[in-house]
Amino acid sequence: MRLLSVFTLLQMNKGKNIIVTGGLGFIGSHTVVSLIENGYNPIIIDDCRNSEPFIHKELEDLTNRQIEWIKDDYRNFSSYRSQLYDTNTVGIIHFAAYMSVGESVSAPLKYYDNNVAGFVELLQEVERTNIKNIVFSSSCTIYGQPDENPVSEHAPVQPPQSPYGATKQMCEQILKDFSNANTAFKSIALRYFNPVGAHHSHQIGELPLSKPNNLMPAIVLAAQGKIEELTIFGDDYNTPDGTCVRDYLHVEDLANAHVRAMDFLLNSSTENYTYLNLGTGKGLSVLEVINSFITENNVDLSYKLGERRPGDVESVYANTSQAEKVLGWKAEKTLKDMVVDVWQWTQYLSKTHGIN
Ligand code: UFG
Repeated sequence: MRLLSVFTLLQMNKGKNIIVTGGLGFIGSHTVVSLIENGYNPIIIDDCRNSEPFIHKELEDLTNRQIEWIKDDYRNFSSYRSQLYDTNTVGIIHFAAYMSVGESVSAPLKYYDNNVAGFVELLQEVERTNIKNIVFSSSCTIYGQPDENPVSEHAPVQPPQSPYGATKQMCEQILKDFSNANTAFKSIALRYFNPVGAHHSHQIGELPLSKPNNLMPAIVLAAQGKIEELTIFGDDYNTPDGTCVRDYLHVEDLANAHVRAMDFLLNSSTENYTYLNLGTGKGLSVLEVINSFITENNVDLSYKLGERRPGDVESVYANTSQAEKVLGWKAEKTLKDMVVDVWQWTQYLSKTHGIN
């Protein structure tokens, strides 16, 4: 894989269609840019239930080309059957899924239906096409609190802490079984650690569409003065400064990993099913992220120390050697890039789209 030059890959990928479900979402939109930069032709399926149509315009502007977008539920195959059955369509990157841990606890059936039943339907349809490659968005949530950090892919999967976590485990199992039963089929599950940041152009990023539960959107709200203060959930953990430790990963690095994963499936995979951690390999505490945001952006924000949040694990960060070995991929962006890009994107959203 690593021996193939960028030019060779560009030539090999040229004109190949990749269907990107959820391609206007946070990670999906960055992956669309990266696919184009690497010679692929992405086809977005997204019904904007958790994204905005203007992201499509931004993507076209950013890449200086037209991008095919089918505005529909990814489960409505009739609207994109011709693209699915097009012989140029060689792969699917599947992002379309619900992802709020809290909501999944109160609305589990919504999660099992969309994330699991929908995924099975997608595979059933794919089985009838010529598409033989699928990249699936999984999560480090499947490790729970690992016995050892950095956590490798060999670590045991823990009982899920939420229906959301259960959907990721179920879909990995489904994909593995499906790929083993259909030997012409190759798939890879990417276990993300904590994706943050925004594109360096600041034209795409994470949208504040619902009440944020994650750290970076909460920091942004506090910096904008939209919440009086940010609450740090727990400062009595067994970590260097008492706050939880996570592996924060820039979304552009994550997007590039999806393209490397598709290259791998198409050009060099000998396995039917692979699963990989995607992180930086470096654990950062909640306080470190907040302080970096304040310093690098030169903004003020208030925070207070609060109770632990139920379900949080103390510390988890990735052993990334497998992703390096298999994909020839390594995260390159720094914490500074993450906090600066996310703040610049916030300014752009407000100035250009009136979203505050
Ligand atoms: N945190 C705060 N205050 C906030 C929000 C978060 O202190 O207002 C802390 C959390 O307690 C945690 C850290 O910031 O210690 C990171 O929290 P996030 O919610 O950003 O991320 P999580 O690691 O909890 O969640 C991520 C993904 C989920 C996934 C989970 C698995 O966002 O999709 O990892 O562990 F399920």
